[in-house]
Amino acid sequence: MPTEDWDPRDPRVLADQVRAYDQLRATCPVAHSEYLGWSVFRHSDVVAILDDHETFSSQVSDAHPAVPNGFDPPRHTSYRRLIDEFFRSDEMARYEPEFREIADALVEGLPPEGEHEFIDNFALSYALETQQAWLRWPTETVQALRRWIAVSQSATLAGEPDGLKAAAQEFDSTVRRVVEARREVPGGSDDVTTRLLRSRVDDRPITDDEVVSIMRNWTAGELGTMAASIGIIVDFVARHPEIQSTLRTSPGDIPAAIDEILRIHPPLISNRRVTTRATSAGDHHMGPGERVTIFWASANRDATVFDDPDHFDPVRNAPDNLLYGRGIHDCPGAPLARLELRVALEALLAGTVSLTLDETVPSDFAAYPAGGLRSLHIHVVR
Ligand code: HEM
Repeated sequence: MPTEDWDPRDPRVLADQVRAYDQLRATCPVAHSEYLGWSVFRHSDVVAILDDHETFSSQVSDAHPAVPNGFDPPRHTSYRRLIDEFFRSDEMARYEPEFREIADALVEGLPPEGEHEFIDNFALSYALETQQAWLRWPTETVQALRRWIAVSQSATLAGEPDGLKAAAQEFDSTVRRVVEARREVPGGSDDVTTRLLRSRVDDRPITDDEVVSIMRNWTAGELGTMAASIGIIVDFVARHPEIQSTLRTSPGDIPAAIDEILRIHPPLISNRRVTTRATSAGDHHMGPGERVTIFWASANRDATVFDDPDHFDPVRNAPDNLLYGRGIHDCPGAPLARLELRVALEALLAGTVSLTLDETVPSDFAAYPAGGLRSLHIHVVR
């Protein structure tokens, strides 16, 4: 049995998880724990895993198969073909005006001058409202999602399979109600949910179970990451007035800046794999069936690739940035995420004179599995 190299839920790790992963990358780059199996922290080791999906399978759970991220080829390929269609750039462009209205209204709601807690009152609201605009879901379903995210994250941290199962079942029945209501609309409409319901996989109609699983991925899986990203971006520009000022005068630099900010301070912490045969990661040999956790939150800060990981250099660092993954499971939602984040930052910068940190209320970090900040207090001048 491998030894316990670290405890991912140690309060000292959770207090500032990104710094803790920085230290582990230097001292124990492939570290074992009962909770996560083999945690892989170095950029080169993570890339090697991503490039070898036959040895490092994504089929980590037979009990809860997730579409598409819990599948390997050829099944994964069939689902990706279908899913990628929903994120084409012409498809995304349709939503920009609506996302901008949502962002402008939230900026309009900021105090003319004063403190504002950004995570609950801006980031999460924006992530949920844009999601609702994209999927055309009823407001009460979106509010249920807001509660669901918090329950699911604390059950993951507590390692409570029963809590997670109950949260997953509650989510599934919420989504199933939306799906059934859509099926009943005569003639249907052209919204994303309805189009997904009418999709075909390998020449057969998609099943309700598959739709619910995809929807779980598009909503529950990603809302937390989107909200975390907005918090991280606002925190970063508030801490770096010179970068904030450049982005105010050169909004064309915003997309590359966002990818780089989210490399430095990661919104998504990790993803899982399982070995299909004897292999190794770093210096560690593993047998078949071993659990592996790849840490985006560490690989993207590896000094052997990014020199000074905290230094903001969008042009230099873009080619190695693993923000949206790599290989066959790379993020299909990246065009939507990039659009939402760009529109949010553009609206915030256009609608304010300055954003600075409110030093009187310290921000605190979110704990695994969430990334980013739990709360963020910003002084706004409009
Ligand atoms: C800033 C926001 C986001 C980040 C940083 C992010 C990052 C990632 C990463 C790193 C992966 C690869 C996972 C792996 O290799 O195991 C991934 C996969 C995925 N993402 Fe995202 N994502 C974001 C937003 C979104 C959004 C908005 C959606 C959809 C609405 C989405 C849908 C997915 C799906 C379905 C997969 C699984 C792909 C597959 O297994 O083939 N993501 N994401």
